[in-house]
Amino acid sequence: MHEPQGHLALDLVRVTESAALAAAQFMGTGDKNAGDGAAVDAMRAALRDLTMAGTVIIGEGEKDNAPMLYAGENVGNGAPPAVDIAVDPVEGTNLLALGRGNAISVIALTVRDGMWNPGPSLYMKKLVVDKRARSAIDITLPPAENLRRIAAALNRPVEKLTVFVLDKPRHAELIRRIRQVGARVSLQTDGDVAGALQAAIPGTGVDVLMGIGGTPEAVITAAAVKALGGGMQVQCAPQSDAELARVKAAFGAAWDAIRTECDLITAKDAFFAATGITDGPLLEGVHFDRDMGVTTHSMVIRAKTGTIRHIKAVHQYSKLARLDALDYQPDAEFVG
Ligand code: FBP
Repeated sequence: MHEPQGHLALDLVRVTESAALAAAQFMGTGDKNAGDGAAVDAMRAALRDLTMAGTVIIGEGEKDNAPMLYAGENVGNGAPPAVDIAVDPVEGTNLLALGRGNAISVIALTVRDGMWNPGPSLYMKKLVVDKRARSAIDITLPPAENLRRIAAALNRPVEKLTVFVLDKPRHAELIRRIRQVGARVSLQTDGDVAGALQAAIPGTGVDVLMGIGGTPEAVITAAAVKALGGGMQVQCAPQSDAELARVKAAFGAAWDAIRTECDLITAKDAFFAATGITDGPLLEGVHFDRDMGVTTHSMVIRAKTGTIRHIKAVHQYSKLARLDALDYQPDAEFVG
């Protein structure tokens, strides 16, 4: 079987760059569907020319609800390697629409059948740390106990830990318990893929990600965590009776099994690429400058080598306009 080769990493960056460039034009417009739609179109067009027989495992939804990049859609030019793909053209649609930081465009890729299919699961409980604390965590333990163990693994007092948590009513008790043990909480409205990346990369100012977020985001995150050698544990956490019934029907008795990054990404090798749309602590957003061009900042990680590449690209607006993949309007006004 053909294995995905290293050069695919750079191809994937072009894909997330395309989506970020398209999405960024909708920054702060309040219209999250327009930004997401533009990113989906651009990402799909950019995927079309890649040398691969790709199947979308995590996409924008089911075929009938999502005309493009739906789960099961074939992407790429159809030539080997056969790969599975997980995409989120805009991770943080509200962040983008409201002009907040940390909206990113992301993609993960493995060899065919190398990625867990989440089926009907929409939400998961997540715990993510960097490689130093990977063997210290146990998602079945109370948050305080995990934080004590993580602090010991990082050789720091628990008061010096910062925990990324999504600012959702469902997390009120979790936040209370984290603060009770003395750790700090970084509360963010959206974007737990970026939060998990921060937790999995040492020295970012975030040490742990805790709480319930999207299942598709968990699978994409797992590719990055695996590549970084970090630690991740998740468990389906249905947020409605209907979701619970569907998850039980799909996974049977194992519906609430503890899964790690290696269960979500079973392939030995995996690629993860992300491009900033709005500015965040790890990735700068798309910056428009009429004279200098359009700047993007991306990160690509490969599990086999563990190499993290940061790629800053300056796109020439007038030339971009000629590239179909970016679907750019030559006369469009620059933002900013
Ligand atoms: P979208 O870009 O799809 O809106 O996802 C943003 C996000 O914050 C994810 O990072 C997170 O996993 C999920 O939403 C949480 O879902 P919810 O907002 O329904 O709690």
